[in-house]
This record gives sequence, structure tokens and C-alpha cells, in this order.
Amino acid sequence: MTELKSHYEKPAEMYDGLRLHQNENTDGCSPRVLEALARLTREQIGFYPPYSAVTEDAARYLGVSAERVALVNGLDEGIMGAAIAYLRPSAGSGVVPEAIVPEPAFEIFRFDTAVAGGRLVQVMPKPDFEFALDEVLAAITPATRLVFITNPNNPTGVPVPFDAIRTVAKRVPRNAIVFVDEAYAEFAGRSFIPELPAFPNVLVGRTFSKAFGLAAIRIGALVGAPEILDPIRYVVPVYSVNIGAVVALQAALSDLDYLNAYLRQVDESKALLYAACDRLKLKYWNSDANFVLVRIGDRVGEVIEAAQARGIFLRNRSSEPGCAGCLRMGTGVVEHTKRGIAVLEEALCAAQ
Ligand SMILES: Cc1ncc(COP(=O)(O)O)c(C=O)c1O
Repeated sequence: MTELKSHYEKPAEMYDGLRLHQNENTDGCSPRVLEALARLTREQIGFYPPYSAVTEDAARYLGVSAERVALVNGLDEGIMGAAIAYLRPSAGSGVVPEAIVPEPAFEIFRFDTAVAGGRLVQVMPKPDFEFALDEVLAAITPATRLVFITNPNNPTGVPVPFDAIRTVAKRVPRNAIVFVDEAYAEFAGRSFIPELPAFPNVLVGRTFSKAFGLAAIRIGALVGAPEILDPIRYVVPVYSVNIGAVVALQAALSDLDYLNAYLRQVDESKALLYAACDRLKLKYWNSDANFVLVRIGDRVGEVIEAAQARGIFLRNRSSEPGCAGCLRMGTGVVEHTKRGIAVLEEALCAAQ
């Protein structure tokens, strides 16, 4: 067990440099999003927002019908909603609901489990972050209510085989769900969503923060059968998605050329970083996301500080299970990746 922090510590507010530490689209959103925001009227801002049209648009993009989509104020809100809906102990039952989290994982799962009053069951990583299927299955108990699986995973970028998700979904108790966090699915080019009709206890979480560059707008989606979505709808605040997010998402979804151009850059960026790591003899993991986990070793802290002094922010992931000595670097806009690599090389020399 790793020593658990009691709450999420937001990274410091660093905007005066190149942000390669939060997996954002460092190019920003489609220009159509700004145009849509500029077209908002005073009345639109004065009224509670309508959701039907944007939910239809999101459903079309995700390839499902609208009743299978719940828009949320960032996927973070969807994760919190799922934790409250499925992990809140019910009075008098004597059961403390359990959440299984295969590590290393997005830290929010741990904190939201604690906030909801559930019990965290961590499954420790296997070599090279191969999905620990047997260990996850062994962690399932009659009290299991949620299994969080991120595909591709953050912070590793490593994909989870669909077969593992299917097996877990078949083995959890009848009143449990498997939450597949697909925050980075666009980069992987595959999604569990087409499998959902066969696996009605699986909920997929998506965000428009990353590939679509809408992180500051806060918009995400939960996708699944109405029976498992409804308990979450009931605990998420009504009208939590604001009108800016509504029009921004519609505009972003109307510009898939912009998305695809970014996805191409991500592939090119990852190839550049892999080549640099090979040159520098650094261990890394092939990533299906828009970032790469790189093992620097004992000097990781110094390297990150040296990069920061040169205006490039990288994320230290050393304290995450299995990630000792590792940093995570965003690999989006090619020009930005080149700057990141140059600084990494310099910082490695400086830290020697
Ligand atoms: C795995 C994972 N899930 C969810 C989120 C949160 O997404 P959002 O910005 O939509 O809240 C992130 C953001 O870093 C993430 O990495």
C-alpha cells in the first residue's frame, strides 16, 4: 500500500511556460469554439441552459443514442458522481462499498472513493504495467461496487485489453459497475462503447478536455445504459454544465478536422520522444495517449526543476505506484514536443 494523501493537490498554477505536465492540448481549442462563445446572447446567459441538442450532438459523435449519454462538468464530475452513487454506504446495511483501483491510476479515483465513504482496494502494478487481471479478479468481493479502469491508462499511456474489461465485467457482483475511463480514447483510436450493449454494467467516461482542447470549459460525458446512468444523474447537481460549455462542445464537435490534425501531431510527437529516449538510453512505455511516461531515475526531481527553470513544465510521477523515478511529458503539438525534448536533454546534462 502506498501512503495515501487525503485529498487531491492541484499542481501549482503555472501558466508562464510550456505546459507539458497536464496532458492538455497545448494548441488550445478549435477557433470555432471562440466564435461560438462570442455569439452567446445576454438571454442565453440569463436562462438555465438547454441540453437536448448538445446531448444529441455528443451522442452522434460517440455512436450511441442520446438517452445513453449524460453530459457532466468535466469527467471529474462524472467520476465523483459515480463514486457517490455507487460507493456511499447505505444506512443500516453494514456493508462498506468497495472500489477497486488498478494502480498506477488517475489519483482522483482514490480521493473520490474516500469522499463518498467507500473503501479503496488498490491493486499493485505488474512489470511494465501489464493489466493485473488475475489480481483485480482476486480483489473482487461481495462488497465490490465499482472497478475503475482507465484505458489507455494515465500516467502510463498503456492500453488495457478489452478482454480484461469483459472478464472483470462478468465477474463483479450484480449491483456493481465497471467504470472505464476513456479520457484519452481519441488518441488510442478505439473505445469500449460499441461493446456496451453486451455489457450493461459497464459505464464509459469521456472528456472533451484533452483531444478537443476544452479543459478550461469543463465538459465530459458518461456513456452507458440508463439503468446505471440514472443513479449518477440523481447525485450530480442539476444544470452543472453551463451554457458556455454547451455551445463550445457543439462547435468543437462540428470541427473534427481540427481534432484529427491534433491527433496526427500526437503520433508524430510520440515518435520523436521515443527516438530521443532511445538516444538518451531512457526507459519509456509506448503510449496510446497524448503523453509518455519516462523513467529518469534518481535525478528525476532535479531534471524537472531544471526544465522548469527553462520554462517547460513536466510532471513528476515518482510517488505513484510502480513509477519511481518517472516523469510524464505531454506529446501533443510537434513544435512543443521538440522544445520539451531539447530541454529534457539539456536538463539531463545539467543534472549530471
Ligand atoms: C484518466 C483521467 N480521467 C479524467 C480526467 C479529468 O478530465 P476532465 O478535465 O474532463 O475533468 C483526467 C484528466 O487529467 C484523466 O487523466
